[in-house]
Amino acid sequence: MRLDRPTESVRPELQGNVLLIGIDNPPVNALDVSVRRGLLAALDLAQADPAVRAVLIHGRGRNFIGGADIREFGKPAQQPTLPEVCNAIEACSKPVIAAIHGAALGGGLEVALAAHYRLATADAKLGLPEVQLGLMPGAGGTQRAPRLVGAEAALGLMLSGRHLDGTQAMARGLVDRLATGNDVWAEGLAYARELVARNAPARRTANATGLADKAASQAAIDAARASVQSAARGLFSPLKIVDAVQAAVDLPFDEGLRTERALFLQCMDSPQRAGLIHAFFAEKAVRKAPEAQGASARPIRHVGIVGGGTMGAGIAVALLDAGLPVTMVERDEAALARGRSHIEKAVDALVAKGRINVQARSDAMARFTGSLTYDALATADLVIEAVFEDMAVKQAVFAELDRVCKPGAVLATNTSYLDIDTIAAGISRPGDVLGLHFFSPAHVMKLLEIVVARQTAADVVATAFALAATLRKVPVRAGVCDGFIGNRILAAYRHIADCLVEDGASPSQIDRAARTFGYPMGPFQVTDLAGGDIGWATRKRKAASRDPAARYVHIADRLCERGWFGQKTGRGYYLYPQGARSGVPDPEVDAIIAAERARAGVVARDFTDEDILRRYLAAMVNEGANVVFEGIALRPLDVDVTLLNGYGFPRHRGGPMHYADSVGLPRILADIQAFAPEAPQFWRPSPLLLDLVARGATFASLNHRAKAPDPSESHHA
Ligand code: 3HC
Ligand code: NAI
Repeated sequence: MRLDRPTESVRPELQGNVLLIGIDNPPVNALDVSVRRGLLAALDLAQADPAVRAVLIHGRGRNFIGGADIREFGKPAQQPTLPEVCNAIEACSKPVIAAIHGAALGGGLEVALAAHYRLATADAKLGLPEVQLGLMPGAGGTQRAPRLVGAEAALGLMLSGRHLDGTQAMARGLVDRLATGNDVWAEGLAYARELVARNAPARRTANATGLADKAASQAAIDAARASVQSAARGLFSPLKIVDAVQAAVDLPFDEGLRTERALFLQCMDSPQRAGLIHAFFAEKAVRKAPEAQGASARPIRHVGIVGGGTMGAGIAVALLDAGLPVTMVERDEAALARGRSHIEKAVDALVAKGRINVQARSDAMARFTGSLTYDALATADLVIEAVFEDMAVKQAVFAELDRVCKPGAVLATNTSYLDIDTIAAGISRPGDVLGLHFFSPAHVMKLLEIVVARQTAADVVATAFALAATLRKVPVRAGVCDGFIGNRILAAYRHIADCLVEDGASPSQIDRAARTFGYPMGPFQVTDLAGGDIGWATRKRKAASRDPAARYVHIADRLCERGWFGQKTGRGYYLYPQGARSGVPDPEVDAIIAAERARAGVVARDFTDEDILRRYLAAMVNEGANVVFEGIALRPLDVDVTLLNGYGFPRHRGGPMHYADSVGLPRILADIQAFAPEAPQFWRPSPLLLDLVARGATFASLNHRAKAPDPSESHHA
């Protein structure tokens, strides 16, 4: 396809004998149809105009090109396609230079690979992240990258989805030259002029020799295939990437391109692509909470933490690692010393993993101070409380914070379940209080639930979102209820897992079913890893207020009464002989389960993995619907992001609400109605689910709403 006029987003401009093609398509110069058309038209100009001796492609704004336009995926293709554009770049008879700054990702890097020469700034980001979206490079990347850098390096890029900076790309031969400064436009132009001056040819990547050593290429492919088969838990596109590189080795370039296209289209049609792209956009959408849009964040220069246990120490590491000074208050010297040593261990682990260097470690520790008095928090801009999960203890801490903290300090609690409205109401400045619910280990887990209480001021919410950005966490806005979004939904599906055990399934069968679905581990493995004592304490705390009519499974309590808390005690639902990390089934646990079934008068029956998963997921989806219905989560996508980033829900399934849409809400509702006789108190369809099914609508139809729920309108009692 040829066009005679450039488009708005691609502006060719002749500078001497070099045609500059500037791509200007904010925010990330994605390769939408207007850019593709504009690029082809500009290349036509270059070919037709004898005054043009070389072509320079460059991105305006902060990036070269952020990739194909992800919003076009799943819609009818519009001409020209990106492969056509890349092939036209490569076929240009005059040297084409790509001048790269910022992101050159996915299709963006493929444009650069099709160019004949590449120059990049040292801090550019070059990568082929398609695998993270359930895709593979589809515009020649799988054929050109291996020819340029060899099969092993190309497979590494494509299977990890990680990007290289300009310096690393230079070292691997992905680019030809590093820019010395930041004016990549000017340096690209100078490079182009230099190439013209020495009559440099239009050098085609299709002819590069990175695959010349067939044996080495084949060995890299075989190794990649084996590792994908063992590690990529049911993912579709990684194997297609390996197949495409095999084609690059076996077939002539043009045939390899055709194979790539066919494989790419298979990936595009896969539900995993839809799930992963839903996750991509959902994680952008959660950052735009209504309060965070309308208010400006308060500055955070110094953070206080009260409590140096598991969470306090983990949160401190996250803050120190992000460059913030931290003051930790504990009850006594011994507890403070334990907190400090937890922090040191975690920071040492970051060094061991190569995440930070020794200097960064000592800088981080230099930002840390411990104290036994609250007065040390007088200058803190934010204090995060992470003491025992006990309302009276937390209220006493907040009274102290109210006394010592400066006006305007944000006062946050890391409570898992407690009522933040009650905590806030006990002090003189409830507007400054909110929940910052981190997940364990807090310096690793990406999720941060930002719990907005009834009186929380908008700029306090905005501050929390800004903090999440500083910590590189994925923030989700939640309302106050028992367990907020994540733990509340967890309680529902965890309950159903317990019921399934009492009804006849074994913990290991349930764990296996969850893993088959794509979870890294099943619910009973998670309990054994995290420690059964945490849930036990919560159950005891809630025992008095439990609905006596609701079904209660005692098996977990029986294990905890014996001190079987999981890995740390050598046994829980499984046995961990000699400190093993993965457990083996325990006949004594089977006996306890059998005794509990007898006590409850249950006759064990068989469940298939499918039976198990349908109950597990229906429980999750139904409670997710309740959480949205009550305004605890803004939209279904907030539930998805929470479960993906805090609870191990398989990312390629997009989250429970996306998954429910993909199987159809009528089926989920029919399942809930069919399960009702097993536990009528539990299996009550959410009003939101009933409404959506009645209207033939989906959860996705609610994802565009971004209004803060008005607590007075909330359906939550
Ligand atoms: N297509 C469409 N929209 C995109 C996009 C893309 N490739 N990349 C980013 N956007 C959108 C974001 O959704 C966001 O929109 P919003 O403002 O409405 O929320 C906006 O651009 C800005 O994005 P960020 O907030 O992420 O901006 P940053 O400056 O932080 O990061 C970036 C820029 C590094 C380019 C980052 O956005 C990114 O990693 N994007 C995805 C890159 C990618 O995966 N590309 C591969 C696409 S698949 C492909 O190319 C297939 C090909 O092989 C055929
Ligand atoms: P923990 O028991 O490991 O640590 C609590 C710490 O608080 C102890 O070091 C204790 O000495 C200290 N402390 C108690 N009272 C204090 C006081 N008045 N002043 C100063 N320090 C005091 O508990 P953990 O697991 O760190 O939990 C803390 C909070 O975080 C709880 O509210 C919990 O529900 C929540 N949470 C826990 C998660 C987990 O996985 N452990 C996950 C998310 C939240």
